[in-house]
Amino acid sequence: MSTETDRRIAFLTLALEQANDTFRSKMDELSLVRRVGDAISQHTSIWSLSSELVDAIAATVSCKYMLIYARPDAGQFELQAVSSIFSGPEEFPVTIGASQIVRHLEATGSSIQVANIADNPIWSEDWPLPKSLASWVCVPLLTRNHLRGILCLADEAPGSFDERTLRTLMVVVPQIASAFSNIGLYAHLRESETKYRTLVTEIQDVVYICDRRWLILDANPAAEALFGCSIIGKTLTELFASPNMASQFVVAARTSRVVQNFETELLTNTNERIVVLLSCVGDAGRFSGIIKDMTERTRLMDQITRAQKMESIGTLASGVAHDFNNIIGIILPNAELIKMRTEPDSAPTRFADIIINASKRAAQLTKQLLSLSRKDPVSLRVVSLNELIQTTGKLLGETLDRKIRLEFDLTNECTNIKADETQIEQVLLNLAINARDAMPDGGLLKFSSRVDNDQVVVQVTDSGTGIDRETLPKIFDPFFTTKEKTNGTGLGLSVVYGIVKQTGGTIDVKSELGTGTEFILSFPSCTEKRRKPVHQTAKPTGGSEKILIADDEPEMLNLLDSVLTELGYSVISARNGVEAIESTTDDVQLIILDMIMPEMDGVSALRLIRQKSPDVKVLVSSGYTSPEKAPVLEALGIDGFLHKPFEVVKLASTVRDVLDGVAVS
Ligand SMILES: Nc1ncnc2c1ncn2[C@@H]1O[C@H](COP(=O)(O)OP(=O)(O)OP(=O)(O)O)[C@@H](O)[C@H]1O
Ligand SMILES: [Mg+2]
Repeated sequence: MSTETDRRIAFLTLALEQANDTFRSKMDELSLVRRVGDAISQHTSIWSLSSELVDAIAATVSCKYMLIYARPDAGQFELQAVSSIFSGPEEFPVTIGASQIVRHLEATGSSIQVANIADNPIWSEDWPLPKSLASWVCVPLLTRNHLRGILCLADEAPGSFDERTLRTLMVVVPQIASAFSNIGLYAHLRESETKYRTLVTEIQDVVYICDRRWLILDANPAAEALFGCSIIGKTLTELFASPNMASQFVVAARTSRVVQNFETELLTNTNERIVVLLSCVGDAGRFSGIIKDMTERTRLMDQITRAQKMESIGTLASGVAHDFNNIIGIILPNAELIKMRTEPDSAPTRFADIIINASKRAAQLTKQLLSLSRKDPVSLRVVSLNELIQTTGKLLGETLDRKIRLEFDLTNECTNIKADETQIEQVLLNLAINARDAMPDGGLLKFSSRVDNDQVVVQVTDSGTGIDRETLPKIFDPFFTTKEKTNGTGLGLSVVYGIVKQTGGTIDVKSELGTGTEFILSFPSCTEKRRKPVHQTAKPTGGSEKILIADDEPEMLNLLDSVLTELGYSVISARNGVEAIESTTDDVQLIILDMIMPEMDGVSALRLIRQKSPDVKVLVSSGYTSPEKAPVLEALGIDGFLHKPFEVVKLASTVRDVLDGVAVS
């Protein structure tokens, strides 16, 4: 009986112990699941998650060495962590490549359990881990057939691991494998997020997101830089300069999912118009897109177009003006000759005066036309823009209506530029007269100057009517005017444009209807010292020297001959360059040489003349001289210029001055 009872008690005790064991191991498994779960929720890198897992697993399955290998991409398996409770001197390889265990785990997806690696013929040969540890368990971390990592347990004693160890491990392995895979995905996501975030923050174009009613929900920093304020909370449509364009854009965005490069104008916080290209993609009840600022580019394109247009108009005009100049060059001195040979106060003198005045006006007009093409003769000198503004200002102060207030804001810095004084005065006057015309009821006309790097910038601002957007692109066109026929020829600004270009500068205009207009001129500054102009001594007297005249136009030859003979000179004429060289004898003291002649032009003739008589004085006469020729002529040593058309007095004084060796400008 007692034996039976004892047996039963012994059996029950065993059963209870077993149950207790199972219960404990389930408790261990549960606690491991919880720890693994906690660790997964806290770590976002495989490396830090592994460090926590190795200790938790090693403690639960009571093993000394627990390691985790993982591979971030398709490369080698890298050691992530080793349990800190191990005390041995073992060194584990940092990476394990394509060894047999890796291939096995990858191909089969099942674990490897080795009781003693030293006795194991299958694994021992290619075993990448320390063989001083006898017992091994290697478990693959697999998701979607992709081997992401390997959990390894090891111990010095052979046969340290049983089925139970493996079972406990298998409870958490799927959880760890999916955590590794998620961390990989998360890292990719974060990487691409960082990439796009950097792009969006750094890019100069505005990137925006709107809701379905165009309320701007988000925008990058470029938006604030472009609009001068945050645009979040505004609607995209309220940024449009014209409501009409806004509705066109909305219709386009609603009818097609993608709107690409919609060109329009938006307003900044200071109501300045900016030209932009607007793109937009509609998706899931939202609109997102890009705003590209094209203002500067459009401005440059306008300038280029304008420059090209002025270039061709200039070429056309200069052709006509040149021929026209030659004709006036004959009419004017002939009329003066008539005047010289008739009684003062007689009828022919009065008629001659009418012809002279009309010719002078015509000459003035051709001069303007020539300045469009930048081919009129100019004498560039160092001039101070401030001084020119002041002299122009003085003139304006005396002539402008009192209702127009003049203001000057001039820099103290040096405003020297290289230009033709008269031309720059003409520019300032033209701008001032336009400003006056735009302020019939009075207002403010302001000149300011400043130095910006190596540019002298002049601003001419008025508070007049302003120029509407349709008119603005046309104002520099020759003959464009909004004024009555009698008041404006429409040449003012085109002449201004031609002069500014010729001086190497730029001109820009800003205008707002009802507020006023601002012209901004910019010239390359000049560091050269200013030279006082040489004053000519006016001596319209004649002489008796021998002068050779060369011109292909018979009328011009006749005219020069008559005038110079009248003045007492002895004159010989040549009809082209060849004749001019032949006629250059030792007793010739001055040659008046036309530049454009058939057979041999002035420059080539001059070259040969210089070889024959290096010291003879030469006066170049021409309707216009292209600026490229000036250095050549200077090198050949000319003594002066006679610009056609000329007045008799000017011809006489220039000839006398050159013969007397007085500098001629
Ligand atoms: N400051 C200004 N304010 C308003 N409109 C201007 C101003 N300057 C120029 N404009 C406009 O530009 C047009 C062209 O100017 P431009 O000086 O070339 O010719 P114009 O003044 O009409 O004639 P012209 O100068 O030959 O007498 C003017 O008719 C006018 O409409
Ligand atoms: Mg004008």
